[in-house]
Amino acid sequence: MPRPAPRIAPSILAADFGRLAEEVRRVSEAGADLIHVDVMDGHFVPNLTIGPAVVRAIDRATSLPLDVHLMITDPLEYAARFVAAGADSLTIHQETCPDLPAAIDAIRAAGAQAAVAINPDTPFETVAEVVPLVDMLLVMSVFPGFGGQAFIPGVLDKVRAAAEVRARLGASFVIEVDGGIDAPNAARAAAAGADVFVAGTAIFGEPDYARVIAAMRRAIATAGAPT
Ligand code: DX5
Ligand code: ZN
Repeated sequence: MPRPAPRIAPSILAADFGRLAEEVRRVSEAGADLIHVDVMDGHFVPNLTIGPAVVRAIDRATSLPLDVHLMITDPLEYAARFVAAGADSLTIHQETCPDLPAAIDAIRAAGAQAAVAINPDTPFETVAEVVPLVDMLLVMSVFPGFGGQAFIPGVLDKVRAAAEVRARLGASFVIEVDGGIDAPNAARAAAAGADVFVAGTAIFGEPDYARVIAAMRRAIATAGAPT
């Protein structure tokens, strides 16, 4: 299987919510590949963010795909509403779903690509059997809930394990990392096998989004890849 092209997914959690549509437009024009949207319910994670109405507003502001990360206890309860609002892929957490194959089917039936996320303390083995079924595996590189946290390097072992399984099975799922990603950490994740790089603070914390995204792309391109 040829390695998928690397993609940069700015997390709008770090954007100025008072000017959200403008921020989404600016980052789309700055060379983003996807828009990463963090949905939190105050239950699975100790923070609250946005629901389908805001996802719809983001979708109207960009033609890029929306990568919607559901950090919520009952993701399937809301899947259809997020797809109707414009989500192109829905990421659910392993920790919330006792029956992942059924959840993956439900997301596809709702009309989105299906992705599964694992927290930093969730072993890769918990998803090893379902990764061939998903469009994307999200390896969290911080504990979900807040932007601006420090990257946890130990999760790169799980990125490597996922990349190994992918190569061995000839599977096509992509591997996303999310949390504390800047250019150097994107390079480390790319070298371990990651393809999709979520970055909030690193992009929205700088005035020139295009410059940060270009620097991340250069770091990823020179990082080398395991497979
Ligand atoms: C964390 C979220 C991340 C977060 C990333 O719960 O899932 O997407 O916004 O933000 P940074 O890049 O600031 O760590
Ligand atoms: Zn996220």
